[in-house]
Amino acid sequence: MANRGGFTSKLGFIMAAAGSAVGLGNIWGFPYEVGQGGGAAFVVIYLIFCFILCYPVMVTEIAIGRKTQKNPVGAFNDLGFKGWNIVGKLGIFSGVLILSFYNVIAGWAFGYIFEMIAGNFAVADKFGEYITAVFKVGLYGLVFMSVTAYVVSKGISGGIERAARLLMPTLIIMMLTLVIYSLTLPNSLDGLSFYLIPDFDKLTPSVIYNAMGQAFFSLSLGMGALITYGSYVNKSDNIISSAAFITLADVGIALLAGLMIFPLIGFMSEGTMEGAARGPGLIFVTLPQIFGSIGGGLGIAAGTTFFVLLCFAALTSTVSLLEVPVAYVVDELKVRRNRAVWLVAGFIFLIGIPSLIGNGYSDFFSTSFITYKEGGQDTDFLSFVAALANDSILPLGGCMIAFFASHIWKKHNLDEELAQGAPGYKGSFIQKYLNFAIGYFAPAVLATVFLFTVLFKFFGVHVF
Ligand code: PFF
Repeated sequence: MANRGGFTSKLGFIMAAAGSAVGLGNIWGFPYEVGQGGGAAFVVIYLIFCFILCYPVMVTEIAIGRKTQKNPVGAFNDLGFKGWNIVGKLGIFSGVLILSFYNVIAGWAFGYIFEMIAGNFAVADKFGEYITAVFKVGLYGLVFMSVTAYVVSKGISGGIERAARLLMPTLIIMMLTLVIYSLTLPNSLDGLSFYLIPDFDKLTPSVIYNAMGQAFFSLSLGMGALITYGSYVNKSDNIISSAAFITLADVGIALLAGLMIFPLIGFMSEGTMEGAARGPGLIFVTLPQIFGSIGGGLGIAAGTTFFVLLCFAALTSTVSLLEVPVAYVVDELKVRRNRAVWLVAGFIFLIGIPSLIGNGYSDFFSTSFITYKEGGQDTDFLSFVAALANDSILPLGGCMIAFFASHIWKKHNLDEELAQGAPGYKGSFIQKYLNFAIGYFAPAVLATVFLFTVLFKFFGVHVF
């Protein structure tokens, strides 16, 4: 077991797990989901899901990982329930899917560093052209995947931990500065009210399903990433408080991203909020405007720094996404780590190609790739894969992980693991809540949401 490596300190694990959670999901995904989901109503539902449902699932994943010190498939085998390793396999499958499209977005963000250095803020107006130049953005993606693979090949404490420690605090400071700046712009308050004052008339079933998917995606849950990271955690660490910190950090940064972007949309739209529902291109169109409005050398410096930090946030997430299939291939298929890393990364890059070319370059994979039954909505390949993985497979995975821990592995075993490193856990309110949430609440809600989402999104069946 010793040669698997581990985190060198408690802070190392927390920072790495928070690094996994904080990424494009917070800064790219959250604002565009809020924009499409009608604003503050989405935010409220999202927060509820994060704290009352996702936090218990996170605690469970880390506990299973630490108990077994295995990858998501090995973990179920190790606990003696081989049949359940299907949950781990599903997780690895969704990790591969997620990384395949995530890397495409990361490639776009990476390319923006050079656009900012060149002072080309007008890239925002030509974003459509930018993403159809697939050879250029594809190359950025290839570089990004290679850096990810390099970090993962260096192992846990050498690569992942060191990268995460320094960059997260810097990102937060940078975002706070931008929030303050965007709040000084005219019409910013219209953006703020769109973002913070809920209009529950906008609460449709799909807002609820998307909020659930977004919460799972953003917290890196439901696919065993945190089982894998948990497998490197010390027995003396407190899982309960670590998971609370990770959840708070992740939600906090998503909220900050919204505070940065919606006032800016208020400014640009002169208060109408037109463009808020633009979708996946949202930050790529709005953010250059903020830097352009600062202008000159300061605008260039701010823009460049921001996209460098965004890429680092994305990198700590891609690293965790790649670590999941790699840990599986190393542990279960006995492939050498280095070889496993490059093979898996290459494979995932290849299956990401339809996501890369499906943004205008290839007609087949673009907007009309699939037409959902629901409302006849045309969808491109990338959005389809994202919906499949985030909104369907992750909640299903979370549901099965919670159910498994409580009813198959058994509650008292889970409690035993959680109590290690957490004095005072036994008999506490949090123990009672977790027992209820992991055993009943999360499985029931998640199973329902999964079922409704699939029926609604892919088959056009309205349950309510
Ligand atoms: N949580 C990451 C983000 O918000 O960008 C994405 C992610 C990483 C999802 C790792 C799932 C995962 F296992």
